[in-house]
Amino acid sequence: MKDICTLFKEIFGAPPEAVCSAAGRVNLIGEHVDYCGGKVLPAALTLKCRVAVRKNGRNSVRIAATDIPDRAEIDYADLSAYRGLQWGRYQAGVADEMKRAGYRLVGCDMLYECSVPFGAGLSSSAAIEVATAYALAKAGGNAIDKPALAVLCQRAENDYCGVSCGIMDQYASANGVAGHAMLLDCATLHCEQIPLDLGDCALVLANCNKPHSLVASRYNERRQQVEAALKAARELFPVQTLAALTPDMLEACRPRMKEVVYRRARHVVTECGRVSRSAEVLRRGGLEEFGKLLNASHISLRDDYDVTGPELDALAQAAWERPECLGSRMTGAGFGGCTVSLVKKAGIGAFIEHVGAAYRAAVGRDASFYIAETADGIVEEALS
Ligand code: GLA
Repeated sequence: MKDICTLFKEIFGAPPEAVCSAAGRVNLIGEHVDYCGGKVLPAALTLKCRVAVRKNGRNSVRIAATDIPDRAEIDYADLSAYRGLQWGRYQAGVADEMKRAGYRLVGCDMLYECSVPFGAGLSSSAAIEVATAYALAKAGGNAIDKPALAVLCQRAENDYCGVSCGIMDQYASANGVAGHAMLLDCATLHCEQIPLDLGDCALVLANCNKPHSLVASRYNERRQQVEAALKAARELFPVQTLAALTPDMLEACRPRMKEVVYRRARHVVTECGRVSRSAEVLRRGGLEEFGKLLNASHISLRDDYDVTGPELDALAQAAWERPECLGSRMTGAGFGGCTVSLVKKAGIGAFIEHVGAAYRAAVGRDASFYIAETADGIVEEALS
């Protein structure tokens, strides 16, 4: 394949002035708690969205991609017009939010190359949003505040694209540090980088390759359910977030909640406990215990939060059968996407063989596997 600069020149007639990228992420633990004010533990990945940029002297952004033929031109004067675009609405949403927030915007040509697989729960959309925001902010000569860019990108996804996502993905994509997982408090945005020392283990991602459908509507439904839980809890306790409830407080609230709402809340409360414990054990290299917490997280997402589905359950189940696997769980929004497994490096080949075969037998489809490697969130490349 041609490199991004050569292709840029072919498409737009001149070489790019900058190439930058934003990372995809894997969430180690703390699933479906970011929008409940909980803590999460994601890491930015080497899988990323790269974008090559050149100012074009117009009042618009022209976008193209290395792997799909779609092109779009997004006019700064008419930013609300692109919500229906399959390719381009994330960029338009980001530009729209940046305009509202008072950024200086200049017309740009942009070519995207994304190695984060789409629909895999590894935040390809956040990577596109953050790469776009960073590139446009730079091109316009604006001061860069990465946490603020992440919040802006989340708003674009909420308001422009209609997904009520939390802050985790955009924050990890913008602020990740290679070799670390970030313990991010989603209520305060306080962020602590924790060295990710996995000893003789690695993180193996297994993509169930399920064509995803209705993820946004089912995701938004979960959000409504936890909002109902918070409303019920606040009849008894002056809490700001569901994550602030202890297990005992939740039990006291149970009679005020529908059964399904209670189960959703129980996932959130127990998952928050597992995140704190994970951060603690990871700091002292307690990988065995971390693995058990991963398993417990999957079970809670399956039984209480109901976001796993047969594909992710089959992948986790097959992983749990392997002696070289210390723990495995779904990662991301669920309903499809990936599992993340903590696996002894020496056993990775056998692990992939077993999980791949078991998944094919159970579901009739092939899974894809990646060894997760961490990276910095936003990177600006030197141009040769
Ligand atoms: C998606 C959302 C995140 C988070 C996860 C679930 O990735 O974008 O905000 O809610 O699902 O943990």
